[in-house]
Amino acid sequence: MNKKSENISGWQRFMKSMTKANEIGKEEDVMLDHDYDGIRELDNVLPPWWKAGFYITVVIAVFYYIMVLGFSKYNQYDELKDELADAKKEVETYKSEHPELFSVDNITAFTDADNIAKGKALFTSKTCFACHSADLGGGIGPNLTDNHWILGGGIKNIFHTISKGGRPGKGMVAWEASITKIERQQLASYVISMQGTTPAAPKASQGDIIWPEN
Ligand code: HEC
Repeated sequence: MNKKSENISGWQRFMKSMTKANEIGKEEDVMLDHDYDGIRELDNVLPPWWKAGFYITVVIAVFYYIMVLGFSKYNQYDELKDELADAKKEVETYKSEHPELFSVDNITAFTDADNIAKGKALFTSKTCFACHSADLGGGIGPNLTDNHWILGGGIKNIFHTISKGGRPGKGMVAWEASITKIERQQLASYVISMQGTTPAAPKASQGDIIWPEN
């Protein structure tokens, strides 16, 4: 019986060629002769579709080994290096586009009530008041309301002092590790907003820098 005379559709023929399944009723041809308590075994071939899948995985494995595991530009390590280099470039670009976020050279003082209020709250929560007193009149630390400065007045100097601390051994630590940049900016702005106020018990002026000069 040739295939045409079987009168089956192309799809059925395809399925048949992919499975090579034995036709029901012809099992006797592939029946193995052993018998386990009545259970018998057919010696069917591995279905071609399954074998094709297996061969494809073998080919992919070879391709993967050559292309990905070190013999080409798809090397994972180089790829990682490239990605890191690209990311670094992106960071640089971002930094150059937003210098105000990364450099303190052009830092400015906040003047709006909201940020000043936040600075005031931080002055308490970050324990600044313990050394400078709640009204900034000074104690262990200098008076922050007068125009005499040990380390320099103005937003840049004050921000710098809060970030990096005072002179060694004086007690004013560097706060940049524990207070965020924006919070240090709010603190510095609050200190500036308190310039010229009159504390209850002002500490005598310290520092030779008069700021602003007048
Ligand atoms: C442990 C005590 C202490 C604490 C807490 C402290 N300071 Fe100071 N602060 C000092 C001392 C002491 C100096 C003087 C440093 C020097 O002489 O170099 C100083 C200096 C300063 C100055 C510069 C004053 C000047 O004349 O140049 C500023 C501004 C300042 N502190 C702000 C703050 C802020 C804001 C906080 C809270 C985040 C704070 N300090 C917490 C002790 C303290």
